Formats: sequence, structure tokens, C-alpha cells
Amino acid sequence: MFGAGKVSEKRVPIIAGNWKMNKTTVEAVNLSQHISFECDMAWEAIEVVICPPFTDLKSVFNVLSFDHSSIKLGAQNVFWEDEGAYTGEISVSMLKELTCDYCIVGHSERRGIFGETDEMVNKKIKALLAGGVRPIMCCGESLEVRDARQTLEFIGEQVRRGWDGVDAEDIAKSVIAYEPIWAIGTGRAATPEQAQEACAHIRSVIAEIAGEDAAKKIRVLYGGSMKPENAKLFMPEPDIDGGLIGGAALDSKAFAELVEIALKIK
Ligand code: PGA
Repeated sequence: MFGAGKVSEKRVPIIAGNWKMNKTTVEAVNLSQHISFECDMAWEAIEVVICPPFTDLKSVFNVLSFDHSSIKLGAQNVFWEDEGAYTGEISVSMLKELTCDYCIVGHSERRGIFGETDEMVNKKIKALLAGGVRPIMCCGESLEVRDARQTLEFIGEQVRRGWDGVDAEDIAKSVIAYEPIWAIGTGRAATPEQAQEACAHIRSVIAEIAGEDAAKKIRVLYGGSMKPENAKLFMPEPDIDGGLIGGAALDSKAFAELVEIALKIK
């Protein structure tokens, strides 16, 4: 296997907060002010990203720029067309104008509730990269898939289909988050060994489809009930480059603690 620490490339870790459908504008201003205040640390060594709902992007941007914060902004979804009759959708250029550096695609909630397929994820990834926004592509298995011992095949397929036809250079600057569905919002995180195995496998699939250089550079995150108490166990794993955080990202102190842990250990 390619991963498992055999590849020693220093990658800048990422702690990304996925706020999901939480926080009105007023609440988002409040939370981002607290996060900006708490996360006042050595910035070259880590990337911190917050992904609020679309309706909060502008006000969170205002808070971060007022504070001269290095925290980056991300969106939670995008549509692949640039403009037109697509009621309810948001384009890459709209995100870019709001200074989004990142955008989550293929989150299991979008796949499960809104019918997002690997093909749609692939189109979104290509549109984002063409528009200069880095995708954070989510993959992860259900409990049934894990119990059937099909996890690595399943996530390998999601990765292959999601990144089909994407340049190695673009893949290298992107992010993949391994998020087992059974660990999201359940308080039941994967074990560090399970997460490392999956993240190493993702890296090995990237090596296969885009070459070793891209595999060395792409950041692979773990997500699923990560919090300060268990982050200390995930961060030392060689193929885990940080976390995609849901619940704990809504608590500024917990989120800042996660950033500190990643900084200290990675
Ligand atoms: P969680 O969510 O940290 O609340 O489990 C993670 C995610 O869905 O990205």
C-alpha cells in the first residue's frame, strides 16, 4: 500500500469547520468573531477554514477581513454551471466573489438527502478547479458497507469517479475528507487505525490515478465526531492531515482547541 507513512512530504494541515445548516446571519457574525479571536496563532503552519451557510458568507467575510484574520472561507456546496436558469443554485464565480478559497463537495448529507452522485461531484470538482476554488471532496462508507468489509473498495470507487479526468496538478492542491457516515454527528468516531487505513488507501488511489507527486501533496482529512478529546489520537497518524469538523466547529473554544492540537502534533 502507498500510504501508511511511507511517503514523507510535509503537508500543511487543515482544520475546516462545516457549519451545515446552522447559524442565522447575526449568530454567524457572533461565532466568527469568537473564532477569529480564539484562533490567533502561527498561521504559516496551518490552514483554518470555516464553511458557513451561503447566506452567512458575506457577513463572515466582513468579520474576518475587519480582523485581518488569516482564517479562510469555504462554501458547503456549489453548482457546476456558471450562470443561467438554475433556480436555487450558486455558481463558482459567486463563491469566488465572496473570497471563498474552498468548497465542500459530495458530503454524505448531500449524497444521501439530496441525491448527489459521483458524476455530479466530478462536475462540481472540475468547475471549482477551473474557477480557482479548491474542492474539499467528501467520501465515506455506511455501516452496512463497513460490516460487509467493503470500505476500501467503496471509498476507492468514490475517489476514482469523483476525480475522473482531473489534472494531477489540480488534484495535488485539493483536499479529500474521509467521513464514515456512521461517525457523522453520532459521537461515535472511527478509531484512529480505521481512519488511518482509509486515508492511506485514499492516498494510494490518488497515486494510481494522478501519480505519486499528487498523492504526496493532496491533503486528506478525517471527519466524523472529531473533537478536542479524540483529535489528539487522530493527528499523529501519518496520512491524516487534519479534520473536517461539524458539531465541534460551532463551539469557538473547541474549534480553537482543535486548531491548536493540529498545530502541535502535525
Ligand atoms: P461531525 O460532522 O463532526 O458533527 O460528526 C462532520 C461532518 O459532517 O463534516
